[in-house]
Amino acid sequence: VIAAAGSGERLGAGGPKAFVEVAGRPLLAWSLAAFDAAASVGAIVVVAPPGEEKRIGDLAAEAGIEGIVAPGGEHRSKSVANGLLHVDTELVVVHDAARPLVAPTLIDEVVMRLQGDGGVAGVIAAAPVADTIKEASLSRRVLRTPERSRLWGAQTPQVFRTGILRQALSAHAGELEFATDDASLVERFGGEVLIHEAPQQTIKVTTPRVLRVAELLLAGRSSTELD
Ligand code: C5P
Repeated sequence: VIAAAGSGERLGAGGPKAFVEVAGRPLLAWSLAAFDAAASVGAIVVVAPPGEEKRIGDLAAEAGIEGIVAPGGEHRSKSVANGLLHVDTELVVVHDAARPLVAPTLIDEVVMRLQGDGGVAGVIAAAPVADTIKEASLSRRVLRTPERSRLWGAQTPQVFRTGILRQALSAHAGELEFATDDASLVERFGGEVLIHEAPQQTIKVTTPRVLRVAELLLAGRSSTELD
């Protein structure tokens, strides 16, 4: 399930982020190509910005990828829940379209890790944090400094046992607007989640500046890497 229903407001592109051109392709096309190339992925569901379902379907078709398109929700987790309605496999990989640098190998690695551990509910790509992280009050007074060596920046792809993710989403249906990733819901539901270390460069495109960094990194990729 590729969540691509964000408005892209922070990017200031004047339209949905999924269509913003990055290194010669729409942002979403990079993730679509990676999922298409991943051996562990059987079918792709793209969650589209409201009213943009046809345009997303056309974008996938132009890339030669057959995908199911689901309508976006009010919040990210609601979008994921909408996408899940089209999933009938035991495992589901959730990915943010805002991360165009995802590699097929990373997708396959998280899936294999979950397949290899029957007692685990999910496996997430994450990177060790480079900054010292502070927890602060709303008035920005520092409350504490967690030990950095144990902190990770959660990214996507995140793979889950589909049934557990579904249950976690419905158990926390009233709080979906606060969930910034899917693993947090699974954790609160009691599911064990493992971290799989991702390459530092799997950045999330949020601002025009990060978009430029992503362009540089993607331009450095060989054109055959994904095709
Ligand atoms: O805004 P945020 O950084 O949380 O967005 C992460 C991902 O979730 C993006 O790929 C965005 O397209 C997607 N999203 C979504 N539905 C929403 C909000 C965000 O699919 N309502």
